[in-house]
Amino acid sequence: MRQKLVVGNWKMVGSLAANLTLLTRIKQAAPALACEIAVCVPFPYLAQARSVLASSPVAWGAQNVSKQPQGAHTGEVAADMLIEFGCRYAIVGHSERRALYGETDDKAARKFAAAARAGITPILCIGETLEERERGVTAEVVSRQLHAVLAQVGVAAFAAAVVAYEPVWAIGTGKTATPAQAQEVHALIRACVAAGSAEVGAALRILYGGSVKPGNAGELFAMPDIDGGLIGGASLVAEDFLAICAAAS
Ligand code: PGA
Repeated sequence: MRQKLVVGNWKMVGSLAANLTLLTRIKQAAPALACEIAVCVPFPYLAQARSVLASSPVAWGAQNVSKQPQGAHTGEVAADMLIEFGCRYAIVGHSERRALYGETDDKAARKFAAAARAGITPILCIGETLEERERGVTAEVVSRQLHAVLAQVGVAAFAAAVVAYEPVWAIGTGKTATPAQAQEVHALIRACVAAGSAEVGAALRILYGGSVKPGNAGELFAMPDIDGGLIGGASLVAEDFLAICAAAS
């Protein structure tokens, strides 16, 4: 039985004061919720997340990680550094990084490998653009993105990983995939991984992301292959994020 997981992706939003309020509310509510909860915060706030959440069931993580172990890579943050700050998760291959910061399938795969080597659970984001969906190549795009990583790290590495299906056209747009549309892609992702290992495929948690809100979370999470959500905008509002966590519980 896969435990539902709800991850907040704060993106480049936050301040020490606002974070303290948000993290404190999540920490207070978490013990009553049956799902696993995590927040992926901007790098400078990892120390704050650790200090507020240390004695709570809420995990924290980063939104990116270097593919390099250390050295002359100005501006990069290594997986071992994230471990020092108690990160359980690191998002890799988010569509904003793919579209705005040149993150290719290959880079996402290397980042996945770097996180996994350090003992951080990568949250690999994959998903098609609106143009790709309209052209009918969603399955092709998603399986290409997934296979690029599978080919580099091997299926066994997915035993300690999470995949997030995030249709690019649904991110921050208020347009959500219907539960049936999302389920179709989630089932495909699981089948791709299960083709390498039935056991790893069956245990893999596949999150849906893209305009998840309290009003649509329940129907999405009710689908058989949707194991929770990666939440952007709604993760910044404590009552919305907690309502989504409640829907996953
Ligand atoms: P959204 O973002 O919930 O604001 O659509 C999701 C994401 O980008 O992970």
